[in-house]
Amino acid sequence: MKLWGGRFKEDTDELMDLFNASIDIDSLLYKEDIEGSLAHVQMLEKIGIVNSEECDLIKTGLRDILLDIENGDIEFSISDEDIHMFIERLLIEKIGEVGKKLHTARSRNDQTAVDLRLYVKKEISKIKLLIHELMTSLYKRAKENTEVIMPGYTHLQRAQPIRLSFYLMAYFSMLKRDYIRFDNAYKLMDELPLGAGALAGTSYETDREFLRDILGFEEIMGNALDAVSDRDYVIETSSNIALGMMHLSRIAEEIVIFSSKEFDFFTLSDKYSTGSSIMPQKKNPDAAELIRGKTGSVYGNLLALLVMMKGLPLAYNKDMQEDKKQIFEAIDNFKISLSIMSKMIQTMIFNKTRMFEATQQGFLNATDLADYLVTLGIPFRKSHEIVGSLVAYAIANNLTLEEIALDKYQEFVTEIDQSVYDILAIENCVESKKSMGSTNMISTLEMLGNAYNWLEENR
Ligand code: ARG
Repeated sequence: MKLWGGRFKEDTDELMDLFNASIDIDSLLYKEDIEGSLAHVQMLEKIGIVNSEECDLIKTGLRDILLDIENGDIEFSISDEDIHMFIERLLIEKIGEVGKKLHTARSRNDQTAVDLRLYVKKEISKIKLLIHELMTSLYKRAKENTEVIMPGYTHLQRAQPIRLSFYLMAYFSMLKRDYIRFDNAYKLMDELPLGAGALAGTSYETDREFLRDILGFEEIMGNALDAVSDRDYVIETSSNIALGMMHLSRIAEEIVIFSSKEFDFFTLSDKYSTGSSIMPQKKNPDAAELIRGKTGSVYGNLLALLVMMKGLPLAYNKDMQEDKKQIFEAIDNFKISLSIMSKMIQTMIFNKTRMFEATQQGFLNATDLADYLVTLGIPFRKSHEIVGSLVAYAIANNLTLEEIALDKYQEFVTEIDQSVYDILAIENCVESKKSMGSTNMISTLEMLGNAYNWLEENR
């Protein structure tokens, strides 16, 4: 008979058992379920619902079950429906009648709420470490490459020359926000749901403060109805993952583009590339493409969660059982993507000469020329127009701006002198950016210094 079978005359249909069961997915929560039960039974002892021998028996039973699961000695079975009933049944089988006291003053809604919250909290700590690791990889590569200059793009059209370090540190900044977002989400979810009962609280004088302390939550959820029906933290984690994956996907996209022969800026390590079954010459950036592809799945997880919750009346509804599949998948995809991205960044080769060469074509110094004309007293809008005509002249005559002769320049603006060629040198264009947070060496070194400090403070 099922643990809840008292009021039923007929067995559930086999297909219904299959449909209803979540143990194939929530078995992942066995540790947290046992952790929650261990805290609960100690609380029951404290308030006199079980005596100390009973408490010890239950605790030993639960710990044995944990060992058995970890040693692979027990198989999860569909007939137990979910991890909560599975562990309770094993406990009763192991220690007899006393085991039946464990579920006093708590519900499965309570259990699923506390288990998942404990699990997500732990996973967020792991995710933060992985983000930190990827940020460290970006920082290290940026630090080694402060001298390297590459084209910066808008609309994927060459725009202005920038430092490779500055480019890498842009991704560092995005990931720092991701890290902080997970940190914030963690703080918000750090509230104990356990003790809510099914929905209304319980008629026992439970000690939720004691539970909070043992289970390591910062606060206690103040409304039982909310405690068992809240999945905000799952959605917020999933949303943070979606945002984080979007960042990884943008890096991935650039890795795919920049490692193509057309660009040839990056060469990926063989370790994170694959070949073709038919074309012997191929080396494909599959790791980056998979990250880009998995971003779609992760968005799907978020959408599934949001839609699942949107029409639910209070409190628990079985729809909510579907949350675990989504959040587990999102977490797994994000963690592996962070690790792979970090390794790709650590091992890829930057083709410095090629990147610098690419800054020589495409008039990346045109803005600097316009800024130079401003120093000669020409209003910017006007100088923009003049440089536009100079670019058109250069295109028509197959020249770069550096190749236009001085007397030609003077036909456009008489005050232009020899110093224009210094202004146009690509290295000088990079250095001439003076604003805070720009690509020049001093500001790039400052970014690196701040990044170093942040990484140290948050390790
Ligand atoms: N397996 C369920 C879940 O994951 C546990 C809660 C079940 N509660 C209930 N009243 N049926 O959501």
